[in-house]
Amino acid sequence: MGIYDLLGFSAETKLTSDAPREGCTCYVVGAVLILWFLVWKYRDSLEINNFRDRYVFVTGCDSGFGNLLCRNLDRKGFRVLAGCLTEKGADDLKRVTGPYLKTVQLDVTSQDSMQKAMEWTKKEVGNHGLWGLVNNAGRALPMGPTEWMRVEDFHGVLNVNMNGVIGMTMTFLPLIKRGRGRLVNVASVLGRVAANGGGYCISKFAVESFSDCLRRDIDYFGVKVCIIEPGFFKTAVTSLEPLERELHRLWNQLTPEVKASYGDKYLDKYIKIQRLIMNAVCDSDLSKVTDCMEHALTAAYPRTRYSAGWDAKFLWIPLSYMPSWVVDVGLKLVMPRPSHSV
Ligand SMILES: NC(=O)c1ccc[n+]([C@@H]2O[C@H](COP(=O)([O-])OP(=O)(O)OC[C@H]3O[C@@H](n4cnc5c(N)ncnc54)[C@H](OP(=O)(O)O)[C@@H]3O)[C@@H](O)[C@H]2O)c1
Repeated sequence: MGIYDLLGFSAETKLTSDAPREGCTCYVVGAVLILWFLVWKYRDSLEINNFRDRYVFVTGCDSGFGNLLCRNLDRKGFRVLAGCLTEKGADDLKRVTGPYLKTVQLDVTSQDSMQKAMEWTKKEVGNHGLWGLVNNAGRALPMGPTEWMRVEDFHGVLNVNMNGVIGMTMTFLPLIKRGRGRLVNVASVLGRVAANGGGYCISKFAVESFSDCLRRDIDYFGVKVCIIEPGFFKTAVTSLEPLERELHRLWNQLTPEVKASYGDKYLDKYIKIQRLIMNAVCDSDLSKVTDCMEHALTAAYPRTRYSAGWDAKFLWIPLSYMPSWVVDVGLKLVMPRPSHSV
């Protein structure tokens, strides 16, 4: 017995009275969703002004996303302070940019180097404070099966990608707070789905959680924290030759017992599959990432998270919301099996 029977209505009464009301509700929900989207789109397109008065510090500008971002921001009229790891990287960048872009030597694994860069920045920005700090510097190697790593292999990556981001942020935060500016931290889809052994995924998960904590704490002071989550792009980080060289190095440092458990063919199969995946997914259009970074720096209302690239939007981010077993099974199907697995 349904609710209509209890209330004394017949089946006909129920049908005739409910059908138009349900249709009407659908229209109202649809209209509200479209209106909400249009308002969001409009709000998302609003920009700040006076780029020429705003200073942005970017780390890791020798190559890749950082290098392209500096050139784009320079063209837009920002005052760019570019942290380069090498002198050559700084000279090359200066050659292709205008007089407002300045470079400084910066190694994000050295507190001394970060402190010196901050003192230099403080003089450059004066009373303006810093509008943006883009924590972009990063390295990925070594990547491979977790069992093949030594503890120092993790540390090398964590020192740049995790400690470097925390160190730069804490050193520069007073300048950003004064400028009521923005922090743009470059994480990765591998900070949402842990698909690789080594320090890389760990470091990017750390960037995600560090950024979330900081955003909630610092919002009171008008400082925004944005996270960029690129998919796979063709840069030095995804270059096959060093990736494969590192896999050989890791393999060579294994004990005969561990090697035997994987089998003679395992390394070759692993490299072949990695090559196939990288060639299939790596996007050469780096502007998909730098557009997100630029939005984070120029939008009146920057987003909290930016997923850059089709693979990020349609594969990795949806996967990150799925149960762990889905990723476990997916990777098991794709990656080679050790010869002595149980
Ligand atoms: N490419 C991708 O598919 C991808 C995907 C997701 C996230 N990301 C992230 O995006 C960021 C930029 O990487 P990219 O792809 O543009 O690769 P990239 O061209 O290798 O850029 C990384 C930059 O960081 C610099 N760097 C390395 N160690 C440093 C240190 N200790 N101090 C200061 N700078 C240092 C590198 O300098 P040298 O060139 O002189 O070594 C390089 O200029 C990284 O955080 C990376 O993890 C990349």
